[in-house]
Amino acid sequence: MSRIEASIVKSAATTGNLVDRLLSGLPPEAVLTDPDITASYANDMASFCEAGTPAVVVLPRTVEQVQHVMRTATDLRVPVVPQGARSGLSGGANASEGCIVLSLTKMDRILEINPVDRIAVVEPGVINATLSRAVNEHGLSYPPDPSSWEMCTIGGNIGTASGGLCCVKYGVTAEYVLGLDVVLADGRLMSTGRRTAKGVAGYDLTRLFVGSEGSLGIVVRAILALKPQPPQQLVLAAEFASAAAACDAVCRIMAGGHVPSLLELMDRTTVKAVNDLAGMGLPETTEALLLAAFDTPDPAADLAAVGALCEAAGATQVVPADDAAESELLLQARRLALTALEAVKGTTMIDDVCVPRSKLGELIEGVERIAGKYDLTIGVCAHAGDGNTHPTVCFDAADPDESRRARESFDEIMALGLELGGTITGEHGVGILKKEWLAREIGPVGMEMQRAVKAVFDPLGILNPGKLF
Ligand code: LAC
Ligand code: ZN
Repeated sequence: MSRIEASIVKSAATTGNLVDRLLSGLPPEAVLTDPDITASYANDMASFCEAGTPAVVVLPRTVEQVQHVMRTATDLRVPVVPQGARSGLSGGANASEGCIVLSLTKMDRILEINPVDRIAVVEPGVINATLSRAVNEHGLSYPPDPSSWEMCTIGGNIGTASGGLCCVKYGVTAEYVLGLDVVLADGRLMSTGRRTAKGVAGYDLTRLFVGSEGSLGIVVRAILALKPQPPQQLVLAAEFASAAAACDAVCRIMAGGHVPSLLELMDRTTVKAVNDLAGMGLPETTEALLLAAFDTPDPAADLAAVGALCEAAGATQVVPADDAAESELLLQARRLALTALEAVKGTTMIDDVCVPRSKLGELIEGVERIAGKYDLTIGVCAHAGDGNTHPTVCFDAADPDESRRARESFDEIMALGLELGGTITGEHGVGILKKEWLAREIGPVGMEMQRAVKAVFDPLGILNPGKLF
């Protein structure tokens, strides 16, 4: 027998042992081994991120089953890659070779909605929009709203500390996670945090887990803060002859003390891509479109004030939506931005650089310069009110030279973001895509401490290896 054949036989035997062990604590339908099916769990939605072949995919329905998976993984030293809906954009949910993919999508129950305590208790596989609609029925809202809200899971949102459109007023996922139940690498169950309005007992391990990208433990239950449901928001669209003028408007709005529930920017490339994809009828003659919204008791008055500031910054056209339906249509157009940009050349690299909002204009100007330098189309949409931009490099993956230029321009945008006092990722996470960049942002001492924390929770290094660092 050749060495290669011998190693295949050995790996089949190892996988067989792994599957047998998993089946001793999981029902057969929760353990997937058909290679055609397991291969479909290999990637999230990021480009340029390597992925291995999972040995097995497990779909537990209970905390005990997750504990069984982790005990098995620890005993056999098999890596575990936790997954939600795989809508991530940094490769954080990509399989590593021979891993157990631990999909939390079947743990999708909303366990409690409590209007007095203003909390929801949920399992990790609950879809963001499902939770949002469920709490609306109680007159409450769960604000964090990634564009992928109709498909992404709360567990995934916690893993990447997701943001979204309304974060400019309501903040990101981290601000809503009060407590967690986490299955640790060795299968022990740990509860963190609280279900009370306040609580400062000990280190804030809850916050540590938010954004830890599945590298410290498996979130199996979350206690989430809720807000009273605000009035329906009304949206205004303002057109500008340059992205710089739109950024100036953003600065005037924020410095003026306004609190919009959304403040989004789409550049000309993005607007055209959305129209091409979905015939949304957005104005294509403009260089930048700013969407502002208010969910205040008198949104029309707030929009009028903000409209005046847009005009002072040089807006060529300010169009308030007539009603809630028209507002919703504008939001749908914005949520389609990334899908639309993907259709431009077939592949995109989506950056996620966040800068202090006073530097937004400089970043966007720099992105235009970088697009020219590399002769590429880079569409920009941005959570402008947060200074969080998504410069999206559109390229043909079949063209090696264009792919190389795409990667280089993507890196140059991150370098510019750091130069401007920003971060390499505002909401999508480090994953595989940005792991070379984490050290540049947080420095050697920060990295040493991050690795030390990882070693406490995951001494064998089996939890989502190869991600973050
Ligand atoms: C968005 C995602 C890509 O803002 O973060 O649409
Ligand atoms: Zn975003």
